[in-house]
Amino acid sequence: MKRTTMKKAAILVTTVAVVLVGVLAVAQPDHPERNPQAVAAEAAFFDALNRDPSRRDAAVRELYDALRADPRDARTNLWIGMAHFWIAAEGDRADPSHLADLIVARHFLSRAAELDPRDTRIPSWLCSAEHAVALAEGNAAAAAAAEARLVEAARADPTFHSVALAIMRWNLPRDSEGFTEALDTLRNAATADEADTSGVNMPRWPHNVEGFCLAAAQYELRAGQTRRAAVLLNFAQEQPSFNTWPFRALAERTMDDLPGLAARYADDDPTNDPPLVVGPRSGVSCRVCHQGP
Ligand code: HEC
Repeated sequence: MKRTTMKKAAILVTTVAVVLVGVLAVAQPDHPERNPQAVAAEAAFFDALNRDPSRRDAAVRELYDALRADPRDARTNLWIGMAHFWIAAEGDRADPSHLADLIVARHFLSRAAELDPRDTRIPSWLCSAEHAVALAEGNAAAAAAAEARLVEAARADPTFHSVALAIMRWNLPRDSEGFTEALDTLRNAATADEADTSGVNMPRWPHNVEGFCLAAAQYELRAGQTRRAAVLLNFAQEQPSFNTWPFRALAERTMDDLPGLAARYADDDPTNDPPLVVGPRSGVSCRVCHQGP
């Protein structure tokens, strides 16, 4: 009797141990021990993106040091790609280094996607970089292929990918199929449920809701939908974070002149159109959602 109890106990202990080992194995990420340099470089990168862009170059240097220490760290690769993508997105397109930044961004984003295929956000960034490089190379087929991959990603998850698609399609004629599809995707994204991290503000994207609403409002204005633009901007203004948003003046100026802006987008002169806040020429296309007070 006693022996069977002990035997049972032994089986139980073994089972618990096996289960525990299993749980630990699952809990371990692919990269259990990140190099401390990678952790510090990641913090430096987000310090620049979320707080002080003047620290961006120093953060990039730290990221490359971390890459030398551990070239297979998926996130180090991702942040290097994103740093170059940020520099290209907010920088001067006439600058010769613009194309170089896009090419480096494309390389590291594609490396990050290989190293961590579970990060389903990467297509937004990678397809955009691929699309821009293809256009710069005069390769229409490669640009169309990158755009098609982004459309596919946006169908699966409009909340996150709608913004990249909207940027890509902004300059199309406002009555074109491509523009309308991008607007519809933004509208689908705007109905995201609260559990979706891409539809709310989080410490690393502290003004995502405000930035998204302003961009979507500009799309609505270009489509002549002044009332819908007002609804979006009102929603942005109702956010508790609106008051500390470094770019709130952009939304307020838009709100103050909805009919005037709609008329400027509607006339035949593209030079009087205010740029899409998340797109080229705004100069704040990443920070509008990512920079905190
Ligand atoms: C409309 C708002 C918006 C704009 C504009 C925007 N982002 Fe983001 N970004 C987000 C959101 C939302 C997420 C997080 C999505 C998720 O994980 O659910 C994110 C994620 C990120 C991340 C990863 C954060 C992490 O902790 O995993 C980085 C890096 C980043 N963005 C950089 C950029 C750069 C660079 C640009 C400009 C080229 C940019 N973003 C433009 C909203 C925005």
